[in-house]
Amino acid sequence: MEASGFEPRIIAFLCNWCSYAGADLAGVSRLQYPPNIRVVRVMCSGGVSPHHLLYALQKGADGVLVAGCHIGDCHYLKGNYMTIKRVTFLKDLLNFVGYDPQRLRLEWISAAEGPRFAEVVRDFTAQIQSLGPAPSFKAVPLALARA
Ligand code: FES
Repeated sequence: MEASGFEPRIIAFLCNWCSYAGADLAGVSRLQYPPNIRVVRVMCSGGVSPHHLLYALQKGADGVLVAGCHIGDCHYLKGNYMTIKRVTFLKDLLNFVGYDPQRLRLEWISAAEGPRFAEVVRDFTAQIQSLGPAPSFKAVPLALARA
């Protein structure tokens, strides 16, 4: 816990086949990582739309993590290529409206990478703690994400 006592709320969208399994492996391996993440299990990272990510931020998440299979390993072949495009677009959009794009992070974590999952969560939690609580996100209309 930081001296400030700030405990970030982080929403993590994890693809079922790789990153969720990696998180599961971290759990059964009893690897330590901060309890700040709330996991949303999705079938593929490519199914996470910008709307989902903006909605998480609008509802008070201090950070959003998207994790999927490594490039070339997506079980739906091209899903994670879509993820790259969407997250890159959304980071640019966040930057454009003056919102720190570091609050959104994309990682590739396989089912065999439990230690990597724990490390990503530790690192991202520390990063969000250093950024502090997220500013209000109400200024950006949700309709932007639906465009
Ligand atoms: Fe994991 Fe597509 S199934 S990223």
